[in-house]
Amino acid sequence: MLAAPLLPLLLPVAAYADGDAKAGERAFTSKCASCHRVGPNARGGFGPQLNGIVGRQAGTTDYRYSDAMKTAGFAWSEERLRAFVKSPGKVVPGNKMLFWGMRDEQEINDLLAYLRTFP
Ligand code: HEC
Repeated sequence: MLAAPLLPLLLPVAAYADGDAKAGERAFTSKCASCHRVGPNARGGFGPQLNGIVGRQAGTTDYRYSDAMKTAGFAWSEERLRAFVKSPGKVVPGNKMLFWGMRDEQEINDLLAYLRTFP
């Protein structure tokens, strides 16, 4: 019975309670990174940079937002972000983010875990 004591070492270290940041990085790279940047050197490009997005006031970086986003008037809670990546036009009607929407709840959890690693 050598295997049993080793088992805890095999559990993923970076797993959050509800999302896996590593898997979230893959989701971000494939679904968001064509328009968005995160990290120390992130700047607005086709879309605004997303550092500290959880809790950030909508439409407030130096990016040129649509009027809809500029006047959204709320901070991005996890719940709002979750709804936004599912259907951007429902959360901020008239905004200019062209995104078909994500469906997979686990993938969204992972994505949020990844975004939380950029305060
Ligand atoms: C095709 C390009 C494109 C893709 C892909 C895209 N976005 Fe966006 N996103 C934009 C644009 C453009 C805006 C600005 C919208 C506006 O001003 O109306 C935006 C705005 C946002 C905002 C609001 C930021 C703020 O400062 O208030 C969030 C949050 C966001 N996107 C998250 C995401 C996430 C997460 C993904 C991947 C799941 C994603 N976006 C994929 C183009 C994109």
